[in-house]
Amino acid sequence: MTGHTNEAPETVSWDELAVRAKSAMQLAYAPYSQFLVGAALEAEDGRIFDGCNVENASYPVGMCAERVAIGHAVVSGARSFRRLVVASSGETPASPCGMCRQALSEFGVDLEIRSVLRGGDERRWTLAELLPANFRPEDLLGAKDAGVAS
Ligand code: THU
Repeated sequence: MTGHTNEAPETVSWDELAVRAKSAMQLAYAPYSQFLVGAALEAEDGRIFDGCNVENASYPVGMCAERVAIGHAVVSGARSFRRLVVASSGETPASPCGMCRQALSEFGVDLEIRSVLRGGDERRWTLAELLPANFRPEDLLGAKDAGVAS
């Protein structure tokens, strides 16, 4: 099966993943920054979830493309991911912001990430390289037993 469904089980090429990210970028709602971002997040089962940045007149309310893609994936039942391509409209390939690195790390730091531009320039990392000491779910262990200092 081809096209923009979420049901393709086979593994696509990095180029195809980049096409998905660039296509999502075209849907970005970024009237304030004019900085368009698209993301294509590949789940372990081969499904691809896209996202774009969604800005807001109340600026901090805006959402990054990567976290929109995570929400898209989780509500579709995917929680384990292999690859992420981010496409952006600046002069250099953008790396995921700190908040998105932490959000992605919830689901594992082995994620392979590439950032691309329409023109072909590219940067590559693993999530572990971008966020070597993420705050982990296990860091919360014991908190409820400790109680509050009052
Ligand atoms: N943005 C993303 O979508 N992803 C990132 O990792 C960096 C920044 C968006 C947020 C905002 O809409 C615009 O890019 C400019 O910061």
